[in-house]
Amino acid sequence: MRISCVLTAAFSLLSIGQGVLGVPGPSPGPNLVGRQTRTTPLLAVFPGQDTLPTLADIINLNATNGTFLPLQNIQGDIFVGMKKQLETFYFFHINDATSFKTALKSYVPTITSTATLLSPASSQPLAFVNIAFSSSGLKELGITDNLGDQQFSSGMYADATNLGDSLSNWKSTYAGTDIHGVFLMGTDQTSYITSYLSDIESTFGSSITQLDRIDAAARPGSEAGHEHFGFLDGISNPAISGFSMNVLPGQAIVPPGIILIGRPGDATIRPPWTLDGTFMAFRRLQQKVPEFNKWTLDNAIQNEAKTLTVQQGADYLSARMFGRWKSGAPTDLSPEVDDPTLGADPQRNNNFDFSHLGSLLISDQSKCPFSAHIRKTNPRADLGDLNTINHAIRAGTPYGPEVSSSESSSNTTTQDRGLAFVEYQSNIGNGFRFQQINWANTANFPPLKTVTPGIEPIVGQGSPRTAEGLDPANQSKGYTIPQFVIPTGGEYFFMPSISALTSKIAA
Ligand code: HEM
Repeated sequence: MRISCVLTAAFSLLSIGQGVLGVPGPSPGPNLVGRQTRTTPLLAVFPGQDTLPTLADIINLNATNGTFLPLQNIQGDIFVGMKKQLETFYFFHINDATSFKTALKSYVPTITSTATLLSPASSQPLAFVNIAFSSSGLKELGITDNLGDQQFSSGMYADATNLGDSLSNWKSTYAGTDIHGVFLMGTDQTSYITSYLSDIESTFGSSITQLDRIDAAARPGSEAGHEHFGFLDGISNPAISGFSMNVLPGQAIVPPGIILIGRPGDATIRPPWTLDGTFMAFRRLQQKVPEFNKWTLDNAIQNEAKTLTVQQGADYLSARMFGRWKSGAPTDLSPEVDDPTLGADPQRNNNFDFSHLGSLLISDQSKCPFSAHIRKTNPRADLGDLNTINHAIRAGTPYGPEVSSSESSSNTTTQDRGLAFVEYQSNIGNGFRFQQINWANTANFPPLKTVTPGIEPIVGQGSPRTAEGLDPANQSKGYTIPQFVIPTGGEYFFMPSISALTSKIAA
């Protein structure tokens, strides 16, 4: 019954918004720039990441395997968001629900779908815009339906201490439930962001007030695609059956309902209008980069041949904290030296699962510590391939300036920088929250090891922050690791389908 409702709803969306399935019309965009079109695609492809499929590819895939996702109705950041040069988050408070709804109705054609982002460059807008609402935002709009997610209903501030955050580090804007919604804008030129922002402000006028704005951006030059500690990001996201064309070797495949509400894999019964929406966990994560660099230098480790300089030993230690080298090469495949060719090759850079013939999964940390960031947040063979429910899609972007020479020489952060972290999932408790609390913050995860793995050294929270296994030559050596990533705010949002914006949110 439920599935047939889902399919009926899905097929009835074929002609929504931006044209018939497969042929999205150009997105109108702001008045100022609406008639301009692009000659190059809006999204970037960073090294190590797979190229995007085209819309035509996906339609062919769906025709052959009988799956169907109405990509023209699914907001664009969800499946392809890890590929932005520039991203602005505009957090707002709704002052007047009635005038907000009127403005939203007129603005819906500008909200960018997945289909639009996969269409030829000439059909893409200058920037994409997506929108999501907090639980308090939905209430403000008179929507009191239970969306079936406890964490979403209570908001992230109420959950912050469970996540391990120190509330004193939270910016006051996020401390509470004042944030009602967020616009996400992504593009490749600052002037487009400026135009889209002014269009939002003129369309929504005094119905909203901006509470915070984060201008995030890929880092410059060869650091593009790397987060502020220097590590290539966005390499491993799950493939979605019915969406992902070429599953990469080693990549997890999850049913669409792990990410999208109401699709196979989402077992929770929720209001029908939430179909094809998703929950967005947003975290404002400050990174103490000079302090991280100093600590890894002070604790530099050695290889077996004892040939490393102090800097190389620091790079070796930090690679083991992440489970990947700065180039993205996994330590599980290249344990002692970085291998940039491996890091840049999507056919190989995910093709590992921490198990090796002749070594014991329960005790061998020689290639990758049990506590490493990518092992804690995606344990692969430690849990077995059947574990699909704890996956989520990451789509964050770094914010803040590059480290200055004075910060570098004083080993002290004086300018705010970090990661505007975003994860999409249909169930916050299974996705982001599980990864943070049950895995990163839990010292005896992964389970059934011969030693206690310890807390995840990058984002794990707890006191003391101790981990073992970081030094391959002395695996029982315990480290007490300062906190280099400080959560300074965040919120749980619901990102509806594009049709639900008109039929429910603005109704
Ligand atoms: C400032 C904070 C963070 C930094 C600097 C960071 C950095 C990275 C890097 C460099 C990778 C490897 C590249 C890749 O596999 O795509 C990665 C992977 C990942 N991170 Fe983070 N991350 C941060 C926060 C988080 C948080 C808060 C979570 C969830 C609680 C998380 C979950 C993941 C997951 C699931 C993966 C993919 C693991 C895999 O599939 O192999 N990250 N992160």
